[in-house]
Amino acid sequence: MEEIKFGFSYSSYGSINDLPEHLQNLLEKAKEVTKHAYAPYSRFHVGAAARLVNGETITGTNQENASFPVGLCAERVLLSAISSQHPDVPIEIIAISYKSAHQQSDHPIAPCGICRQTLLEYEIRLKSPIQLVLAGFTGKVYVLDSVSTLLPLAFSSGELQF
Ligand code: THU
Repeated sequence: MEEIKFGFSYSSYGSINDLPEHLQNLLEKAKEVTKHAYAPYSRFHVGAAARLVNGETITGTNQENASFPVGLCAERVLLSAISSQHPDVPIEIIAISYKSAHQQSDHPIAPCGICRQTLLEYEIRLKSPIQLVLAGFTGKVYVLDSVSTLLPLAFSSGELQF
């Protein structure tokens, strides 16, 4: 028997002002687009902004539905837009922010499980790690170097034989 440990490290910044300028700019964009979220049920408005290797910036927001499970997270809306508008262009960085009508938005959130799986497939497909910048509307900011750290022992296409 062998015990296998998995660990990862990430950077924690005191506030957006402490980030390198290019990350500040992308996070500002993610904050700005939270106003485009369609979140009348949760009133939890999420904004995501991606910087592609070709220099383009693409955004996405969560889109809810009266039939709750139909709703989509900002991250998956963003990835669908990128994959449709810029297929095969790797993503360099994704910044994610949120603004809640019900509580303080003063700490980072991390992508949900389904979004982690979707982000990981993108990272694997384009063979390029995606840096994640996670924040609230105020407060600390976390920076992670790759989506893969968020999903250990992931299921991926390598398991499927056709
Ligand atoms: N949501 C996101 O858009 N991204 C996340 O990382 C977590 C949750 C959305 C889904 C739903 O519209 C609302 O936030 C509350 O769960």
